[in-house]
Amino acid sequence: MKALRIKVPATSANLGAGFDTLGIALNLYNEFIVEENDSIEIETYPKFPEFENPDKNLFVKVLKTTCQFLGNEFHGVKVKQIINIPVSRGLGSSATAIVAGILAGFYANKKQPTDKEFFKIAYQFEPHPDNLLPAWKGGLITACIEGENTYYSKIPFPKDIKAVVVVPDFELSTEKARSVLPENISIKDAVYNIQRVSLFISALVNKNYELLKIAMNDKLHQPYRKQLIPNFDKVIKRALENGALGVSLSGAGSCMIALAKENFDKIGSGMVKAFNEVNISAEYKILEINEEGSKILIE
Ligand code: HSE
Repeated sequence: MKALRIKVPATSANLGAGFDTLGIALNLYNEFIVEENDSIEIETYPKFPEFENPDKNLFVKVLKTTCQFLGNEFHGVKVKQIINIPVSRGLGSSATAIVAGILAGFYANKKQPTDKEFFKIAYQFEPHPDNLLPAWKGGLITACIEGENTYYSKIPFPKDIKAVVVVPDFELSTEKARSVLPENISIKDAVYNIQRVSLFISALVNKNYELLKIAMNDKLHQPYRKQLIPNFDKVIKRALENGALGVSLSGAGSCMIALAKENFDKIGSGMVKAFNEVNISAEYKILEINEEGSKILIE
């Protein structure tokens, strides 16, 4: 097998009210350069010693599981991981490893996974289609799990909107960010979110961007998670003051994402400053929406 270069985009799940439902792919990529090998060899750029441990490397674990699923013996793999997506920040870095592992395993069999096959493997590692789907298929996607099946649909995303993502200098695991969520919520809060996530989709489709500010408000996860994000309210305020259309936590955090048509640098610097005020370094990235999803290139 020639070397494969698998490019998987970053994702931002939830977008405020669409908790565990919406996710969007962004033009920032992790790359996995994969070759057949008789043992496991892993190189990471920049260096992540933990990822170079074969027992802990998520891509390798997923590839092994995919080979087993397809009835193939796993002999080893040589993989170079180019890690451009900040790790444990709510930008879907784990989803990139899962998607790449599945695609590499299927590619070796000259096949592409069906939706059922993909989710059967992927959910063993991460049960969130709101990250997995945009990482695989690109674009803005709404997804739900009903019984054994995952249903999803792409939503046209306006080309004139970009994402300003602020990356604070601290990691936050999804596990920790989910552990602060309550078991039950009130019907009032459920209705609050249903109203806003519907408004969000309609506002994008009809280009009624002035609705996005309200449409990205949330009562299901952010009120609980914000205790883990110092100066959360100020970051949101600064983004809106500087011209963002709407702002939310990115996935389970710690990044925050603002959608905007202009003033990208102003919005980014404002959000960074809000983190700096509580002695947290941060940087911002201006990203476009990736519509293509994962790509396999032959080296
Ligand atoms: N929807 C998930 C969450 C995304 O917010 O916990 C994390 O993978």
